[in-house]
Amino acid sequence: MIFSSFKWLQLRPAVVTSIVLCSSAAMASDSDVMRGKYLIEIGGCNDCHTTGYAPSGGTVPEEQWLLGDALGFRGGWGTTYPVNLRTYMNNLSKQEWIDKAKTLKTRPPMPWWVLNRMTEEDLSAVYAYIAQLPVIENRVPDYVAPGEQPNGPYIQWPQGPK
Ligand code: HEC
Repeated sequence: MIFSSFKWLQLRPAVVTSIVLCSSAAMASDSDVMRGKYLIEIGGCNDCHTTGYAPSGGTVPEEQWLLGDALGFRGGWGTTYPVNLRTYMNNLSKQEWIDKAKTLKTRPPMPWWVLNRMTEEDLSAVYAYIAQLPVIENRVPDYVAPGEQPNGPYIQWPQGPK
């Protein structure tokens, strides 16, 4: 009897420590993921990078978020397509993403300046959120040069092709 409770006392600190360590690690990454999701939602990324998001009033289910869109944006810059952010992030480490986002400049109408101005902490959270989404291959059309006709649907900006 005395022997067995002695054993329990010896084991307990190790057990308690490992439970505390596990749960605090899980909590930190959960809160990063949640903050990333929040930043994606208020940052308007789904408006372009998720098919049908804006017309649906933001009700597209999360399983379909950020897979890119075959709806092009056509203007003086040619026709651009919002990329599949799940495969995009899957090809980058967190640090590569942060470095890229800080200096990124794309053709319109991607608001690249928003990413340039995000803090490292917020960019990490965006990465944590997107990187834990399942990767789903969904190829969007390639960029089409100005003056060339896109095959699929597009939104024409007032500034027509030059
Ligand atoms: C108004 C539409 C629109 C919104 C809003 C938008 N994007 Fe984009 N995004 C695009 C388009 C179009 C491209 C492709 C640009 C090109 O081909 O040059 C793009 C490209 C990108 C790329 C690829 C950049 C590269 O390496 O070439 C990333 C990363 C990205 N967007 C992230 C985001 C994030 C994160 C948000 C939310 C903060 C966001 N986008 C909001 C339209 C949008």
